[in-house]
Amino acid sequence: MEPALLLTGAAGSVARQLLPGLSGYRLRLLDRDAPAPDGLPDDAQVLTGELTDRDLLARAVDGVDAVVHLAGDPRPDAPWDDLLGPNVDGFAALLGAAAGHGVRRVVYASSVHAVGRWEGAGRTPVRADWPTAPCCAYGATKVFDEAVASVASHRHGLSTIGLRLGATVPVPRVRSQLTGWLGPADLHRLVRGALATGTVCGVYPGTSANTGGHWDLGPAVDDLGYAPELDSAVHAGDVEDDGTDVTTCG
Ligand SMILES: NC(=O)c1ccc[n+]([C@@H]2O[C@H](COP(=O)([O-])OP(=O)(O)OC[C@H]3O[C@@H](n4cnc5c(N)ncnc54)[C@H](O)[C@@H]3O)[C@@H](O)[C@H]2O)c1
Repeated sequence: MEPALLLTGAAGSVARQLLPGLSGYRLRLLDRDAPAPDGLPDDAQVLTGELTDRDLLARAVDGVDAVVHLAGDPRPDAPWDDLLGPNVDGFAALLGAAAGHGVRRVVYASSVHAVGRWEGAGRTPVRADWPTAPCCAYGATKVFDEAVASVASHRHGLSTIGLRLGATVPVPRVRSQLTGWLGPADLHRLVRGALATGTVCGVYPGTSANTGGHWDLGPAVDDLGYAPELDSAVHAGDVEDDGTDVTTCG
């Protein structure tokens, strides 16, 4: 039987781009909003509600092999009050539920904003083994997520793989998305690699193979078997100039 996979944040932008790449899994989808029905497999189970609802989480993780966790507030300019529920409490609750129900692995969306100050200071390509350096409150919640995930691995044996996603859009629209772009086909490769790797716990950059890219992809290539094929340079002539080539808040 195909392995069962829980996808959180299933109604969101990254999930819509990822869903076509999740063939071979029985999907269970969780979001506070119902995902649009187009593009969903007929047999996908849909659960609607809040990440902080423990009863809902228990049902969501029951019987799944792995979780791809995308639910959260993705706004780099969001204030703490908006971020704490989805990005901090919600993720900690999900990890607790996953560990308690024998889930094998949680792959979760971190962000290049967890290390955005390196990029802002011009220290590129940013390496995955440099200390975290968030450039905003949003980036700090992603640093927390990386820390609490490592605790779940260390204390409870739950495998956790964090992906520091860059600008995850079908096509870059502005110049600042070029150096950290993650195109859909590479998003599929990255997440499938994270689901399959023998690594138990780690955090990896997640961008395409962009010319002049600001993120060192070496560890993702080595540990996840990630083989990106897209390059934002193909789109460089079509983007609007928003005055910077920095992906993060600088
Ligand atoms: N889009 C990007 O370029 C990008 C870049 C780096 C990291 N990320 C991360 O990837 C993830 C997905 O981002 P996105 O752009 O798809 O965001 P999005 O806002 O489009 O989707 C997030 C989804 O999560 C759901 N959600 C939020 N809080 C919830 C809660 N408490 N309970 C249940 N559902 C909840 C929302 O309803 C939404 O459908 C986020 O963690 C974000 O920080 C995104």
